[in-house]
Amino acid sequence: MLFHNKLITWYLQNKRHLPWRETKNPYAIWLSEIILQQTRVAQGLPYFEAFLTNYPTVQDLANAHEDEVMRLWQGLGYYSRARNLHFTAKTITHELNGVFPNNYKDLLKLKGVGEYTAAAIASIAYGEIVPVVDGNVFRVLSRIYGITSDISTATTKKEFQAKAQELISHEQPATFNQAIMDFGAIQCTPKSPQCPQCPFIQDCVAYNTNQVDKLPVKLAK
Ligand code: ADE
Repeated sequence: MLFHNKLITWYLQNKRHLPWRETKNPYAIWLSEIILQQTRVAQGLPYFEAFLTNYPTVQDLANAHEDEVMRLWQGLGYYSRARNLHFTAKTITHELNGVFPNNYKDLLKLKGVGEYTAAAIASIAYGEIVPVVDGNVFRVLSRIYGITSDISTATTKKEFQAKAQELISHEQPATFNQAIMDFGAIQCTPKSPQCPQCPFIQDCVAYNTNQVDKLPVKLAK
C-alpha cells in the first residue's frame, strides 16, 4: 500500500477530534495554527474557543482593542503571536478587502505565518498540495525511511520538504497533513513510540535496524 494510503487509513481510525477540523473557514484555521505554533493541543483548545466566541470573524478581531486581545491570550505565552495575530487581522481587513490569501505563497507574506503555518492553512482550507514539515514530520520520516541527516540544518529541512512533497496525497492533502501531525503526536512519539501497533512496522528502517531511539539525528547547534 502507498505511504499516504497507509497513513490516512491509520488516521481515520485514530484521529483526534478537534474543533478546527470541523471547518474550512480560513480564519478559524489560521487562528488554530497560530495558537498551535508553540502550544500543545490540550492547552490551546480553550483559547481557540474563546477567540472564536469573542471574535467570530477576522473583521471582529481587527476591530478589537490591542489590550483586550492580549488579555484573551494571557497564559499562552510567546506574546508576539498575539500581537502578530491582531496586526494580520487588520492587514487582511483593511489592505486585502477582508479576503484571506488563498495560497501558500501569499499566506507566507502574512506576519506571523511561516512555512509550516502557510502549508497547514493552504492545504486544510484550500486543498493545496503542500506538506507541513516540523519536528513531528522529521521524526516520522527519519525513522520510516532511515534518514540520518542532522535535522538542525536548513539543508536537511529542504531534504524533508522534498520527501514530504513526494509522499503527500494529491487527492487529500489536508487529511494527509493532519494525519502526519497526529501520527507523530500519538503513534511515532519521541519516547516510547507504539511500534508493535504501527502500520509501518514492516517498512520502518529504524524499527528493523533497532535505531528508533537514535532517530531523528539532532546535533547540538
Ligand atoms: N499542530 C499544528 N497544527 C495542528 C493541527 N491542525 N491539528 C493538530 N495539531 C496541530
